[in-house]
Amino acid sequence: MTALSFTHRYIPATIPNRPPLLLLHGTGGDENDLIPLGQTIAPGAALLSPRGKVLENGMPRFFRRLAEGVFDEEDVKKRANELADFVTEGRKAYGLEAPIAVGFSNGANIAAAMLMLRPEALAGAVLLRAMVPLKETPAFDLTGKRILILSGSMDPIIPAANAARLAALLEQGGAQVRHQSLPTGHGLTQADVNLATDWLSNEGQPEESLRHTR
Ligand code: MLT
Repeated sequence: MTALSFTHRYIPATIPNRPPLLLLHGTGGDENDLIPLGQTIAPGAALLSPRGKVLENGMPRFFRRLAEGVFDEEDVKKRANELADFVTEGRKAYGLEAPIAVGFSNGANIAAAMLMLRPEALAGAVLLRAMVPLKETPAFDLTGKRILILSGSMDPIIPAANAARLAALLEQGGAQVRHQSLPTGHGLTQADVNLATDWLSNEGQPEESLRHTR
């Protein structure tokens, strides 16, 4: 594996013209965790999967938190920028177009922060159990980007109103957002996998890739 600023795994594409995925694990995960999910929801796509650099009691994360759902916002900003720089490095090292982030929980939250702070880093995103990562952000422009948010209506960590606010914020920034709430908790279900698969092969395709596959 090429040495880059994050420990990571990279799986090259086997099918041309599928946008690459940036896989972002949840608290306590690592670069291996979401590889099977990426291979299931976007077969043949290149996968770039970094490990979060922050340790909470030995568990990797993508930014510091003060308590569950209470974030160290200065660290969120610093880490979102650091991860966006890693995406630039990874694209250069492996010859990739801008990836679609697929993040779960803490990984979805850092992806949401990247969309707000460094929108150019991502072509779009699948945010699985995400919440609003920052109380205040500068204006951001997500025109042309497509985002799928899947929430759990019984998620004990993320209040429904918070996920709805995230969807509204991203939409106000110009993104095309699909937000769906599933009758489940914080963990992923087969319904998440099915919805993400459908979305990635249909409306989630960036404009450019759709032109190639038509
Ligand atoms: C976070 O810290 O990003 C959220 O509380 C989700 C989690 O990792 O549990």
